[in-house]
Amino acid sequence: MTSIDSAQQPAGSPAKAPVKGPWDLPDVSGLIVSVLGGTGPQGKGLAYRLARAGQKVIIGSRAAERAQAAAEELEYGVEGADNAGCARRGDIVIVAVPWEGHGTTLESLREELTGKLVVDCVNPLGFDKQGAYALKPKEGSAAQQAAALLPDSRVTAAFHHLSAVLLQDPEIDGINTDVMVLGDVRSDVEIVQALAGRIPGMRGIFAGRLRNAHQVESLVANLISVNRRYKAHAGLRVTDV
Ligand SMILES: NC(=O)c1ccc[n+]([C@@H]2O[C@H](COP(=O)([O-])OP(=O)(O)OC[C@H]3O[C@@H](n4cnc5c(N)ncnc54)[C@H](OP(=O)(O)O)[C@@H]3O)[C@@H](O)[C@H]2O)c1
Repeated sequence: MTSIDSAQQPAGSPAKAPVKGPWDLPDVSGLIVSVLGGTGPQGKGLAYRLARAGQKVIIGSRAAERAQAAAEELEYGVEGADNAGCARRGDIVIVAVPWEGHGTTLESLREELTGKLVVDCVNPLGFDKQGAYALKPKEGSAAQQAAALLPDSRVTAAFHHLSAVLLQDPEIDGINTDVMVLGDVRSDVEIVQALAGRIPGMRGIFAGRLRNAHQVESLVANLISVNRRYKAHAGLRVTDV
């Protein structure tokens, strides 16, 4: 019996185009990455790692001078601008503002973000005496809220499970973790996977469509519990991939 994998092509049929594998990712080295909320630990950490890997990075803030001051600290050619200027200049725009400011920030930047590849890394979390817990946005997740507010942008979600402490530590060369990348358009997801892969030690792994972003965002509550118990900066590895 012949399996599908080993089936022979009938003689005379046209040659098949080589099948693209899941690790055949585009070259993103020439794309400009903007980071909204780039003055906070997560935005600054991501900006630092991407710029150190050779990417052109612009960080944004509600106040241009705060962004410029943070950019100077980061070096590697990072520039600072207000969030609108930052959004306008990026090919890829990472959203790294707190959940509380997520909706209003994106709504106010709808025009600047038109056509842009938006990468949402926001984790809607609450905190009480028992620790962190996942909030339930009415749209389903922060990423779905972004997609609803930005119908003319290409919304993806990634970089939720990173430790900002490790990202910002210049003594650490590699960030040994996988990044779950979610999105509804494969070519956009692959760009974000490739971007994650620019950071030594990091892999970007397709982890489903935006409707499954809630679990990925929520998992951070569990990682915070891990970090507290083990005094760690836990990341994730997806095995057998
Ligand atoms: N920290 C982590 O380890 C980590 C890891 C993965 C994902 N994340 C996610 O990344 C996002 C940023 O995390 P973070 O710890 O860097 O947050 P943060 O320090 O609280 O905020 C980041 C920046 O956002 C701006 N900001 C503050 N409040 C805002 C508001 N209401 N509206 C618009 N902008 C506001 C501030 O910059 P300006 O005052 O300069 O505008 C601030 O520096 C969060 O949504 C978080 O869930 C964090």
